[in-house]
Amino acid sequence: MTDQPSTTPATELREWDASSYHQVANPHVDWGRAVLERLPLRGDETVIDAGCGTGRLTELLLERLPNGQVLAIDQSANMLGEAKAHLTPRFGDHVSFRQADLVGLDVDQDADAIFSTATFHWITNHRRLFQTLFRALKPGGWLVAQCGGGPNIARLNRQAQIEMLGEPFAAHFGGWSGPWLFAGADDTALRLHDAGFVDIDTHIIDAPVTLESESVFQEFLATVVFGTHLKRLPTDELKREFIGRLVAWSGEQNPQWHLDYWRLNIIARRPQGKGTDPLP
Ligand SMILES: C[S@@+](CC[C@H](N)C(=O)[O-])C[C@H]1O[C@@H](n2cnc3c(N)ncnc32)[C@H](O)[C@@H]1O
Repeated sequence: MTDQPSTTPATELREWDASSYHQVANPHVDWGRAVLERLPLRGDETVIDAGCGTGRLTELLLERLPNGQVLAIDQSANMLGEAKAHLTPRFGDHVSFRQADLVGLDVDQDADAIFSTATFHWITNHRRLFQTLFRALKPGGWLVAQCGGGPNIARLNRQAQIEMLGEPFAAHFGGWSGPWLFAGADDTALRLHDAGFVDIDTHIIDAPVTLESESVFQEFLATVVFGTHLKRLPTDELKREFIGRLVAWSGEQNPQWHLDYWRLNIIARRPQGKGTDPLP
């Protein structure tokens, strides 16, 4: 992936339309619910939600921790603001929030577990990500996560690439091919192993989504899938045109408003005991 400099400041590139995300990211809640079921919890642990977004899944996690704590981490101020507004009134000091990049996070052996959904594919350095998460876990702690992987949105992304290389968009994308790393199951298992994890299980599942209408599809593309792409386009007219062309393309497909999602499931554990930390 070439990453040409964008004229948008880095902090703004990290931001999301949080109120729209909170409304439209329903597939993410369905997927996340299944991920959460795989996280073994007594109810009194400290768990990190890594890339908590607007907190719809953090809420379900907190419901499973009546005597525990959640540290909700996200690098987007908008997402954290929305999450705080929803979660603090109900869960009080059972939940705390931190605005931080997960890569290089300074949390040291504090968490009994790490939960993460729909976030790791927004991070391209998985080697460092897994080292950081390993360090944040107590010995014996579980990482239970899911993100886009393998052929995730390959058809939609191929169509986006065609638009990005053509007029009037090419000058604004400058060879940039997108923000994501859709890692494979085997690569991920190897990186987790290298970071020191054991009991590793990684696999990719087909998770297609068909949205109910053109308008929902349009908002979903603009907010959830291509928000980072749109930040590279300088005018509202160009942003509307980019999304409009992808919506028109989808309208000609059968089924319409379809997203060819594939998810990478990740389970891994930091080993018990001393002398297990391979980090420098
Ligand atoms: C698609 S949202 C997922 C939110 C939530 N987990 C869910 O499943 O609905 C991805 C989130 O990851 C966050 N994110 C992406 N890269 C990050 C990084 N390097 N450090 C912290 N958060 C990051 C984004 O700000 C965004 O809130």
